[in-house]
Amino acid sequence: MSIEQVITEWDGQVGCVGFDRETGAFFSIAIHSRALGPAAGGTRAMQYASPADALRDATRLAGAMTLKMAIAGLPMGGGKSVIALPAPRHELPEATWQRILAVHAENLATVAGQYWTGPDVGTSAADMDVLHSRSGGYAFGRSEGAGGPGSSAPETAHGVHVAIRAAIREAGFDDLRGRRVLVQGLGAVGHDVAARVAAEGAHVIATDIDPARCERAAREFGAEIIDNAAALTTASDVFAPCATGGIITAAVAEELPTRVVAGAANNVLDEVATADVLAHRGIVLAPDFVANGGGGIHLVGREVLGWSAEEVAAHVEGIGATLGEVFALAAEDGVSTERAARMLAERRFATSAPELVQ
Ligand code: NAI
Ligand code: PHE
Repeated sequence: MSIEQVITEWDGQVGCVGFDRETGAFFSIAIHSRALGPAAGGTRAMQYASPADALRDATRLAGAMTLKMAIAGLPMGGGKSVIALPAPRHELPEATWQRILAVHAENLATVAGQYWTGPDVGTSAADMDVLHSRSGGYAFGRSEGAGGPGSSAPETAHGVHVAIRAAIREAGFDDLRGRRVLVQGLGAVGHDVAARVAAEGAHVIATDIDPARCERAAREFGAEIIDNAAALTTASDVFAPCATGGIITAAVAEELPTRVVAGAANNVLDEVATADVLAHRGIVLAPDFVANGGGGIHLVGREVLGWSAEEVAAHVEGIGATLGEVFALAAEDGVSTERAARMLAERRFATSAPELVQ
């Protein structure tokens, strides 16, 4: 796939790309929609097979942000930055990473407020401190020490927990006690999700490509650790994908041995039609852009709308009611929950700009 193909097949507004010769990093900023407000979405920094793959990820993730903001009733549009790194993030010398952040900050200053970034895979609150100060303020999610609201991960995990609770009820379970919850990815969000469901009495099954993260989950709440390759074939009551996207294809959906899919990973389905397969099998899917909205609610709530931490938490609890509407619409129209959530987002997109609807 070429960069030209990525852009011509995309339904978004504008994709900006750049390259830094000194570090070999390729930069992309995708602005999908500004209809509800300035575009917002995190900065993802990782390695990609090609610059076109990185831009494709940025465009798809930006589209997901548009849906996420609309369905959460937040007055922002959808965007995303992707930095394709010359080496794995943990192998980059600090000076190289700081140079990459400086270039990205300059790019943010160039799009000056049409797009606001925040943390995502490969970036942290400390990185947001740098981006904020060097771009002229266009980064959400600075550390508390630097005057920001801190990481979005805890409220994302809170929202995923709310989504799991709503989805298991839809699947006919009373609560999580004794239920097998498989968490794929024990990073900032996944570890917290696993800890929360373990505290409710779930049997946590977990996997991560980083053995240290698996050991920590086993030690802290007795997670049963499985091989990474077994994530999609191990039986569970709830599958909570909290690593990367695109893992559920139609073929995977045909076989996935679970009753509920609810997690944090953005764009967990390869395409919308894959949700039809899950729906036919009676698997309850909490659409990712609803379930993982807590981070955006935290960042935009605290930094744009002036909410307190308590107000943010109350809005994150509202993810349960939103999912209730999604499940009801799916049942009424005989469509998958993914399609129903998109219909709901479109409705809000059309009618609520830029008021709060939650
Ligand atoms: P993170 O980078 O802290 O954690 C990701 C974890 O997944 C890491 O521990 C990594 O080793 C692991 N991992 C990567 N590939 C894997 C694989 N194939 N199998 C198993 N584990 C694998 O990222 P974070 O912040 O926890 O985000 C997780 C997901 O949630 C991402 O898709 C992100 O876009 C999404 N998300 C995050 C939000 C946030 O506020 N941090 C908000 C909304 C969505
Ligand atoms: N990257 C996170 C997400 O996908 C958090 C985020 C939300 C970052 C909004 C910036 C803006 O939801």
